[in-house]
Amino acid sequence: MSATKLAPSLLSADFTRLGEQLATCQTVGADWIHIDVMDGRFVPNISMGALIVEAARRVTHLPLDVHLMIVEPERYIEQFAAAGASHITVHVEASPHLHRTLQAIRGLGIKAGIAVNPHTPITSFTDVLYLADIVTVMTVNPGFGGQSLIHSALKKFTQLRQLAGESGQSLELVADGGVNVQTAAEVVQAGASVLVAGNAVFAHPEGISAGMAALRGALKDKTS
Ligand code: DX5
Ligand code: ZN
Repeated sequence: MSATKLAPSLLSADFTRLGEQLATCQTVGADWIHIDVMDGRFVPNISMGALIVEAARRVTHLPLDVHLMIVEPERYIEQFAAAGASHITVHVEASPHLHRTLQAIRGLGIKAGIAVNPHTPITSFTDVLYLADIVTVMTVNPGFGGQSLIHSALKKFTQLRQLAGESGQSLELVADGGVNVQTAAEVVQAGASVLVAGNAVFAHPEGISAGMAALRGALKDKTS
C-alpha cells in the first residue's frame, strides 16, 4: 500500500501566523493543504473564501485541496480555480447537477472531488464516480473542527475502495473530520488514502511538527 497522505486543515490554523504555519506544514512533509470553505447556509458556520486560497498559493507549492461546503458550488468553481486551487471538492448534497459540476472542474484543468456527508449513501453518486479524482468521506458532520469521528462513515471507504479496484480507477479517498492519533490507523485500515487533520496538527500542544509526527507514528505502529 502506498504511503498515506496527510492534509493539515487550515480551519484550525492560527490566522495571525498563516504564512509561517503553511511553511512549517510544507517543511515537515504535509502532502496537501486542506482548505474549508463554509457559507453559513450549507453548513452552520462561515469560514474562508478565495482570498485565503490565493494567499496560501503564494507561500506553498503543496496541492491546495479546496473543500466547498457551500450551496450552489458551481457558481464559485472558476473563482477558486483562478485563486490557485489544485483540487475542488463539492458536496453531493449541494450539487443537483453533479455530473456537470465535476466536468466543469476538470475542464479548468484541476482535480475534481465529491464530498459526502455521514448520512448520504455512496449510491447517490456512484454513477458519476468516473468523473471524480477524489472522494472526501465526511467522518463528522461538516461545519466545525475538533469533532469526534463518526465510525459508521468508515464503511464508505471499504465500499469505494472495492468499486475503484473493480474499475481500475485511481481515486484518492479522503477522510475528513475527527482524525487524530487515536483514530488515524482505523481510518486507514478502512481504506482511506488521505487523512485531513485540523486539530490534531494545529492544536497539538508541542506544535505542528509534533502533531504531524504523532500522526505518522500512529500509522506506522498499526498499518505497516
Ligand atoms: C469540517 C471540516 C474539516 C475540519 C476537520 O467541516 O471539513 O476539514 O477542518 O477538523 P478536525 O481534524 O479538527 O476534525
Ligand atoms: Zn474539510
